[in-house]
Amino acid sequence: MLPSMTVLLTLVSLTCGENPAIQVILKNKGLQYGKEVGAGWIQEKLELITLPDISGVIKLGFLGKVYYTLTGITITKCDFPEPTVEFYQDATGFKTSSLGLSVAMTGGWRTRFGIIRDHGSFNMAIFSMDVTSIVNLGKDPDGRLSVTSISCDARVGEVDIRFHGGASWIIQPFVDHFKGRIKSDIEGKICPTVEESILNVESHLQAMNVSFDVNQDLTIDLPLTGLPVIDASSLNLGLKGEFYSIKSPAEPPFEAQAFTIPEQQGYMLSMGLSEFTLNSASYGYFSAGLLKALINDSMIPPSSPVRLNTSSIGQFIPQLPKMFPDLLMSLQVYAREIPLFSFLPGAVKLGFQGAVKAFAIQANKTQTPLFKLNVDTQLSGKVWIASGKLKGSLKMDNFTLTLAASEVGPFKTDALEKYGRIGSMLALAKLNEILGKGVEIPRMRQAQLVNTVLQMEEGFIAIFSDAQVLLTLGGFN
Ligand SMILES: *[C@@H]1O[C@H](CO)[C@@H](O)[C@H](O)[C@H]1NC(C)=O
Ligand SMILES: *[C@@H]1O[C@H](CO)[C@@H](O)[C@H](O)[C@H]1NC(C)=O
Ligand SMILES: *[C@@H]1O[C@H](CO)[C@@H](O)[C@H](O)[C@H]1NC(C)=O
Ligand SMILES: *[C@@H]1O[C@H](CO)[C@@H](O)[C@H](O)[C@H]1NC(C)=O
Ligand SMILES: *[C@@H]1O[C@H](CO)[C@@H](O)[C@H](O)[C@H]1NC(C)=O
Repeated sequence: MLPSMTVLLTLVSLTCGENPAIQVILKNKGLQYGKEVGAGWIQEKLELITLPDISGVIKLGFLGKVYYTLTGITITKCDFPEPTVEFYQDATGFKTSSLGLSVAMTGGWRTRFGIIRDHGSFNMAIFSMDVTSIVNLGKDPDGRLSVTSISCDARVGEVDIRFHGGASWIIQPFVDHFKGRIKSDIEGKICPTVEESILNVESHLQAMNVSFDVNQDLTIDLPLTGLPVIDASSLNLGLKGEFYSIKSPAEPPFEAQAFTIPEQQGYMLSMGLSEFTLNSASYGYFSAGLLKALINDSMIPPSSPVRLNTSSIGQFIPQLPKMFPDLLMSLQVYAREIPLFSFLPGAVKLGFQGAVKAFAIQANKTQTPLFKLNVDTQLSGKVWIASGKLKGSLKMDNFTLTLAASEVGPFKTDALEKYGRIGSMLALAKLNEILGKGVEIPRMRQAQLVNTVLQMEEGFIAIFSDAQVLLTLGGFN
């Protein structure tokens, strides 16, 4: 019984998988922008680097062998035609080609022929170099993006080397004769270099975290939920996008629903954020018992006509000041249920089911329970992006207040409800002031989002954006 259950559960978890709550789609426009930034960066880099030494051996039949080393090779000029990069479905990755590269180099040469050693300098030009590389994008067991080289092909059209100094006049004719050999030595160096830089990118990816603490209470999990998906014009990454309470991590009683980001032309990136992500944060706060507050009279604005004491509250509950004359009160406000967001076309809704427990503060500081009210509100709002800032507004659609328990006997809640509604609306007005000012869209050290638009959809928010790289990609070397 047990083994078959295990098999069944394994099958279920394999087939159902987990829907990503965050999707990031790189469009061809973004890929081409990335290529331009990358090509500019490579061009800059190439002019600074010293290439690895090239060594080889030229066999001169019965005369023996000439061992040669080209060392301290630096690039003096590089003609770097625009490379091409495309989404490559066959390998679930990218195909990059650089065709017709020409490079002029200078450096030193050393030869050893029997016991004769010699050295000098050289100039070398490589013409019509073609490099094509195919990489595969995958996912490691921890959900990090991984990149592996699938194939690399390098061809050199022509090599011209001029030796100077030493006995170069003896060497030069041999070099001219064995140019084919030198050419293939150079060809042989290119792909290992390309593969090394892919490994370098891979090691940066491996060092990335898949979860981040957003504050002292919440952490967000962002591993890939499945393999990257590549089609002819885009790369789609699905991320888990789930918040957890740091103190009491647990799965919420709801799941991420599948969603499809609508097609929107002309942007580098599309992103989708499911309401699940926001609701998992809500659950994290709720399950850690953080959605509660204590209110006492000193927190009530001085201008308020109602004070938090038994005489003042007596206007709503006539028996209260008779039972507990002239005592200060305190309120315990908390969420009864997980506050849940729902995203709808053009709007976001938030249901909040809360409770308020009222206490009288006795002279000896004992808190005597008085009554408990259930407060249910329904809020709706909008979010949008304007001048690079994420803004929002909220309004209250519904506010109801009902008596859930009372230690002071029954009383009417109509008047309290009216005041509660006014109080909530004042608080909302303050909140809207803050939301109206907006918050900057988060930016990374090396890149920021520009031309960003946001669209509310059923169950998710879609964001379409271009990106701008700010600095050189200093992190990758
Ligand atoms: C990854 O997380 C660990 C532990 O939370 C932290 O020490 C480290 O700095 C993080 N690394 C990066 C690259 O953010
Ligand atoms: C009200 O609560 C605040 C913060 O918890 C506290 O500093 C203050 O002393 C309290 N005031 C009264 C009158 O209990
Ligand atoms: C209760 O509030 C009233 C105002 O409504 C105020 O005059 C009175 O001094 C307050 N009593 C206490 C004990 O704070
Ligand atoms: C505090 O005072 C109240 C009312 O006078 C009384 O009922 C209660 O027993 C007292 N509590 C303590 C711990 O003294
Ligand atoms: C407000 O809430 C009450 C009680 O839950 C409900 O009967 C009523 O339909 C709601 N009104 C709106 C506009 O949602």
